[in-house]
Amino acid sequence: MPNAEDKILEVNNLKKYFTIKKGLFGQKSEQLKAVDDISFFVNRGETLGIVGESGCGKSTTGNAIMRLLTPTSGEIFFDGEDFSKLSSKALREKRKDMQMIFQDPFSSLNPRMKVFDIIAEPLRTHHSYSAKQLKSEVLDLMEKVGLSEAQAYRFPHEFSGGQRQRIGIARAIALKPKIIVCDEPVSALDVSIQAQILNLLKKLQKDMDLTFVFIAHGLPAVKHFSDRVAVMYLGKIVEMTTKKQLFDQPMHPYTIGLLEAVPIADPTRRKKHERPEIKGISQVQSTFQLVADSILAVLWPRRNVKSRFQNLKKKKLGIMSLVTFPSETKTRRLII
Ligand SMILES: Nc1ncnc2c1ncn2[C@@H]1O[C@H](COP(=O)(O)OP(=O)(O)O)[C@@H](O)[C@H]1O
Ligand SMILES: [Mg+2]
Repeated sequence: MPNAEDKILEVNNLKKYFTIKKGLFGQKSEQLKAVDDISFFVNRGETLGIVGESGCGKSTTGNAIMRLLTPTSGEIFFDGEDFSKLSSKALREKRKDMQMIFQDPFSSLNPRMKVFDIIAEPLRTHHSYSAKQLKSEVLDLMEKVGLSEAQAYRFPHEFSGGQRQRIGIARAIALKPKIIVCDEPVSALDVSIQAQILNLLKKLQKDMDLTFVFIAHGLPAVKHFSDRVAVMYLGKIVEMTTKKQLFDQPMHPYTIGLLEAVPIADPTRRKKHERPEIKGISQVQSTFQLVADSILAVLWPRRNVKSRFQNLKKKKLGIMSLVTFPSETKTRRLII
């Protein structure tokens, strides 16, 4: 079990707002609060799951941690150092320790490069290996992720989705990073392949002492993978706790909704078990509706809580935080 005091990553009050042009000629602009004041930490060696519907700000969070995006505000400490205060040279050096695995391995791999070169690229940038050393490093990485030497001289399009994700993983572990942000690494894969990739990630975590931030849109993927889970909704973390507590005693109505949304294979059980409808950022028509849904979900967690307030006008998000963040819940759940 990782030492609870040993935080490898600490994120404080992270915000990322995008400016969206509106109107026929883009004369008006509006701020889209993709990530709105979130704080969390990750202990060395553990996996923090981040779950939430599409559009709730998970990738933006991951990209901000990786500094692929500059946050609007907030602090990110990695291994005790404030990323925003590092020079670009120091940042490049630190980046070695942080890698990312993407949802769509195809678009993240250069289609014109052979697998050998894709995996060798970070090694060439950061080390001065001889050709012989480089080859042995690359083949060793390929073996670690379950690829054979014969596959080294092929192009990404010659591989299946699962194999392409293995190439992405080999590249991500090439520089022996300390932390890997996995952004929905199995969402695009066939169900039968998903478990293989998750098992591979788990094995690598053990063998290489890796810390993971594991982003997923559904709870099943994080259930078998995470030590703690943060649930995101509309740019905010609405609940964060240990995996066991989250699954045994979910507190936030949205988490309850996510749990209820897990597909049930048995059709007779499925029929009896009506689930609340969960809305992503694009579907939420008004905060009022969200508040109404939250109250209904608490009162009747097993009923369908489709809101009667669909056409009500948009109200400020503040109302939502008043209703859905009773202060004691926030303290109990967010400070673990
Ligand atoms: N570069 C961008 N410009 C404008 N809006 C963006 C940009 N990137 C993401 N968004 C918006 O921010 C919100 C969160 O997106 P994202 O972090 O990708 O969500 P998730 O990964 O949870 O699906 C979405 O509404 C998305 O449309
Ligand atoms: Mg995403």
